Amino acid sequence: MNTQEVPGRAEFLSLLDAQFSIPVSDIQGIIREFHSEMQKGLAGNPGSLKMLPSFSARPKGTEKGSFLALDLGGTNLRVLAVELDGKGGSNVVAVSRFTIGKKAMQGTGNQLFDFIADSILEFFKDNAIDQNRKYDLSFTFSFPVEQTDIASGRLIEWTKDFTAKGVVGEDVVCLLNNALKRKRISCVNVAALVNDTVGTLASKCYSNPSCDLGVILGTGTNACYLEKLSNITKMKRKNANGEMIVNMEWGNFNKFVRTAYDADLDKASPNPGVQHMEKMVSGMYLGEITRMIICDLIRRGMLFSMIDHAFIFSKTGSFETQHMSIIASDGSSDLKNVEILLSEMGVESIKPDDKKNLKRICKLVSDRSATIVAAAISAVLTWMDPELKCRHIVGVDGSLFEKYPGYADEVNNVLFSLFEKKSSPIFLEPAKDGSGKGAAIIAAVATSTEISASLIDL
Ligand code: BGC
Repeated sequence: MNTQEVPGRAEFLSLLDAQFSIPVSDIQGIIREFHSEMQKGLAGNPGSLKMLPSFSARPKGTEKGSFLALDLGGTNLRVLAVELDGKGGSNVVAVSRFTIGKKAMQGTGNQLFDFIADSILEFFKDNAIDQNRKYDLSFTFSFPVEQTDIASGRLIEWTKDFTAKGVVGEDVVCLLNNALKRKRISCVNVAALVNDTVGTLASKCYSNPSCDLGVILGTGTNACYLEKLSNITKMKRKNANGEMIVNMEWGNFNKFVRTAYDADLDKASPNPGVQHMEKMVSGMYLGEITRMIICDLIRRGMLFSMIDHAFIFSKTGSFETQHMSIIASDGSSDLKNVEILLSEMGVESIKPDDKKNLKRICKLVSDRSATIVAAAISAVLTWMDPELKCRHIVGVDGSLFEKYPGYADEVNNVLFSLFEKKSSPIFLEPAKDGSGKGAAIIAAVATSTEISASLIDL
């Protein structure tokens, strides 16, 4: 490119707009690709959607009892005690949170599982739990797992920031049980292994049976839905009646057009080559994509007057999705909060245009994420119900959906543009604490004799 062809700032920003926008007219094609990947995954053929059977059915809302829940998959580990009243109501009666250190996340499998067992012991101590009783525990493990039944399954690969060695390919319930033995914890029976999406769907279904899709939009992203057993052709079973919740692992869908920023982010990640959609959508990555654009603009002399400001944003992770949230929530005419945030980061001589352009970039990145999610939701709903004749409740959990200003509205807007009046029976609803309450519900389904008997036939 000779110097005359170097775009000016306005032109470059328009180029960015074009790169990050996904026209509604392209979404039908994406939906077709999604369906084709779903089909491959259900048949056990290679593709980007793993479509993992969960060995869980839809809860009835009558499940009852007290359960422990363990939630591993984000930045914290949680241990909870949950009570289900059998009438669609649930209550978290005790909870302890533990920050997962780098050693546990990225050290050896034993370090990770010992940390989990130690956290359970601490939870017992903090909440005066009687260790002479027996407890059924539901293990929410929010990574791709090939389940062999409701309470066992092998980790296919790590995602997000986890890389603990010696876990991929292993049965994570066995690893947990071994750690419980090492720590002499004998009062716990691991009754269910649950993906967070499955917990989310279960927690919504418990009080609202028309929920048929569970979505996580947080550190990572994923979805599960209710599939007819007869469609899960890769499962060998005697009885193909009924339904099972399928964990799609949609974060790995890889048919969206990526920008150079996405490709660079992927290369620098702990898991290059996988989770393409997650890296364009979820909370762990949006700040990083935006940081890369900021650096590019600074390098081109198009953002912030001082070129040496590049060092403020030069480090991976120095600009986070939380920062984007603050910027998105600033509706003032002079973008005062954007200015405060930038000053706190060390940016000087901030011009009004810098603030406006930064806000515009954040919106590009978050809107693209919301559009992708709307496309993915549309794909799953039209797979289940091509004419969208039924009412669909989509239970959604995760900080991006819950806290990012305007995000949920944007997903709804895209759904509306896609289906116009037909989108009326689609309701996106927050599903709180699927990894705690929802997981307990799955454990209740698993330990109820009625369901266990039906699972034997599968
Ligand atoms: C994992 C999924 C999980 C999602 C949300 C992804 O990285 O692969 O299993 O459901 O994050 O936590």
